[in-house]
Amino acid sequence: MPVKSSNIVPKNSDGMSRYRVRCMTHGDLPQLMEIRREMKVHDVESCIDSWLTVDPRGINVVESEEGEIVGACCFIRNSEDLYFGGLYCVRSKFQGSGLGIHVWNACMDHVGPMNAALNAVPGKMELYRDKSGFPIVETEFKCQKNYTSEPVDPNNLSNIIPQGVTIESVQEYNLPALFDYDFSVVGYDRKLALALNCQEENSRTFVAVKNGACVGFGTIKLTCLGAGRVGPLYSDDSAVAEALLKTLIMSMPHVTGFVMNTVSSNVSARRLLKKLGVPLKEELTRMYRKEKLVADTKKIFGLYELNLAPF
Ligand SMILES: CC(C)(COP(=O)(O)OP(=O)(O)OC[C@H]1O[C@@H](n2cnc3c(N)ncnc32)[C@H](O)[C@@H]1OP(=O)(O)O)[C@@H](O)C(=O)NCCC(=O)NCCS
Repeated sequence: MPVKSSNIVPKNSDGMSRYRVRCMTHGDLPQLMEIRREMKVHDVESCIDSWLTVDPRGINVVESEEGEIVGACCFIRNSEDLYFGGLYCVRSKFQGSGLGIHVWNACMDHVGPMNAALNAVPGKMELYRDKSGFPIVETEFKCQKNYTSEPVDPNNLSNIIPQGVTIESVQEYNLPALFDYDFSVVGYDRKLALALNCQEENSRTFVAVKNGACVGFGTIKLTCLGAGRVGPLYSDDSAVAEALLKTLIMSMPHVTGFVMNTVSSNVSARRLLKKLGVPLKEELTRMYRKEKLVADTKKIFGLYELNLAPF
C-alpha cells in the first residue's frame, strides 16, 4: 500500500521520520502478539485475526523503517454505526515520543463521525474523557478482568440444566440459531464474526439448544500466554451458563491458567468465578463517543473480547 505523507510520524530532529502508521495486515499478527505477550495481556491471535477479517482497515500499526512494529491501535467496525477501540499500545522504550497519538488518530479517521466505544484501563479514563472525545462514561457496570495462573477444576461447577436443554459442540447447522440468539443479546448482526469465531484454531464452541432454538453459547480459546480464555459466554439462564462453562473448561484441559472477562452487573457470573477460585484482577471503565450501548447484561456471563467488541 502506498504511504501517504500524513501517515509518516513527524518527530525526528532532522525532520526525517523513521516511523510510519499503516493498516495492519494478517502477516503482522506474530509481531503484534509479541508486543501483547511483552505486556502480559491474554489476547488470542486467532480472535484478532477474525476481527481483522471483519474489518480489514480496523487495526493500525506503527512500523519502523526496518519493518519492526512498535505500536498498534484498533477501532473495529462492529456495525454500520458502531466501532470498538482497543489494543492501544506502544512498546515501552518507544513511549512518549508521539507514536501513540499518531496511530490513535489514524484509527479515529477510520471511525469518521460514527459512534465508538472502548474500555479504559485504570488511570486512562480522564485521558479518553477529556482529550480523546469519549465524554460518556458508563455508570451501570464496569468490565472486569478475571484471571488465575492456577488450573481451574471443572468439578466445582454443576452441569444440571433445565429439562429439554441439550449442550452440543457447535456444528454448521447450529449457526443460524446461534446468530439469532447473539442478535437478541447484543442488538445487532454479527454473523461473520461469529462464523469465524466458531472455526478458529485452538478454540471450542458449545451451544445450548432447546426445541431447536439456541438458548446460550460459549467459546474457549488459547491465549498468547497459554491460558484458556472463555468468551463469549451468553445464556438466558445461569444454570445453563454454568453447564456451558464446565463443558468449555473440560474441552481444553492442557492450558496454563484461566481467563474470563465479565460485566460487573452480572452477579451470577461472579458466583461462577468464585466457585472456580478465579480472582478479579482489574476493572475497566466503559466509555462512549456519542451514546451508550444497551445490551442484556444479565445474559452476558463472559465478554467476547475486551479490545474488539463491546459485549
Ligand atoms: C497509551 C500509550 C499507547 C500512549 O502512547 P505514547 O506513544 O506513549 O503516547 P504519545 O507519545 O503519542 O503521547 C503524546 C501526547 O499525546 C497524548 N495522547 C496519547 N494518546 C492520546 C489519545 N488517545 N487521545 C488524546 N491524547 C493522547 C499524550 O497524553 C501526550 O500528551 P502530552 O504531550 O500532553 O503529555 C502508551 O503509553 C502505552 O502503550 N501504554 C501502556 C498500554 C496502555 O495503557 N494502553 C491504553 C489502554 S486503555
